[in-house]
Amino acid sequence: QATLATERFGKKVIVRDEVTSTQELAHQFAQEGNEEGTIIVAEQQTAGKGRLGRKWYSPKGTGIWMSIILRPSLAIQEAPQLTLVAAVAVVRAIKNVTGIEASIKWPNDLLINDRKVAGILTEMQADPDRIQSIILGIGMNVLQEEVPEELEEIATSLWKEKGVQVDRTALLAEILKELEWFYDTFLQSGLQFIKPMWEAHARGMGERITARGVNETVTGTALGITDQGVLRILDDKGNEREVYSGDLDFFHT
Ligand code: BTN
Repeated sequence: QATLATERFGKKVIVRDEVTSTQELAHQFAQEGNEEGTIIVAEQQTAGKGRLGRKWYSPKGTGIWMSIILRPSLAIQEAPQLTLVAAVAVVRAIKNVTGIEASIKWPNDLLINDRKVAGILTEMQADPDRIQSIILGIGMNVLQEEVPEELEEIATSLWKEKGVQVDRTALLAEILKELEWFYDTFLQSGLQFIKPMWEAHARGMGERITARGVNETVTGTALGITDQGVLRILDDKGNEREVYSGDLDFFHT
C-alpha cells in the first residue's frame, strides 16, 4: 500500500503477475484508448526488452518492471528527450527513498558504483506527423541478492548496494510523483530547464569518453548535452561533435 501523490500518473494501474513485456501490454492498452498516465506493472517479465533489441532480465518479485502510457503534444523528433527527463526523475526518486545517489549514463542507464541498476526504454507510436502515444518503460533492479554471472560486472540492485529491502510499492509511487513533475515541467519549459539537473547527475561529463554510435565512434571529452538532448563531445582534433544515439564507454583513471 502506498499513497499516490500524483494527479494523472498511476490513476489507472494494471498489475499482472507474469507478462512477456509490460511494453507490449502498454502498447495494446494505448491502442485501446487508455489515458495518459495509465501504468502497467508486472511481477515478472518473460521477454523483457532493453534498448537496441537487447533483453532485459526481469526475474519474479525482485524489481520494478513498469510501463507508462504518455500522450505528449511534442514533435516526433523531440520524443527522445523524454528518456533524459525520465532519467532525472528516477534518480531523484531513488535518492528520496533510499538516500542513494545514482548517476546517469547517457542516454538511458542509471548506475550505482558504475554498475547498472535501472534502464529506461521509450517507444513511440506515431502517424507521419503526430505522436499517438509513447510508452515509457522503466526497469529497476531492487531486491536481487545476486545477478546472473554474465552480468556480475555490469549490473547491480539496490539491495546489493545498500543492503536494505526497499519497498517496491513506495519506490514506484515516488517514481510516479517525480516523473509527473518532470514531465509536466518539460512540456511547459523544454529540456533547457531540466538540462542542468541532468548534467549534474550524469556520469563522465568533462571526462574522456567513447561514444559508439550506429554509424560512427567518437572519442573525446564529454561536454554535456544540447537543448535537444544530443550528446556533445570535443574530439581529439578539437571539433565539437554531436552524438544522437549509441553506447558510452568511460575510461577509468
Ligand atoms: C535498457 O536499459 O536498455 C532499457 C531497459 C528497460 C526495461 C524495462 S522493464 C519494464 C519495461 N518492459 C520492458 O520489456 N522493458 C522495459
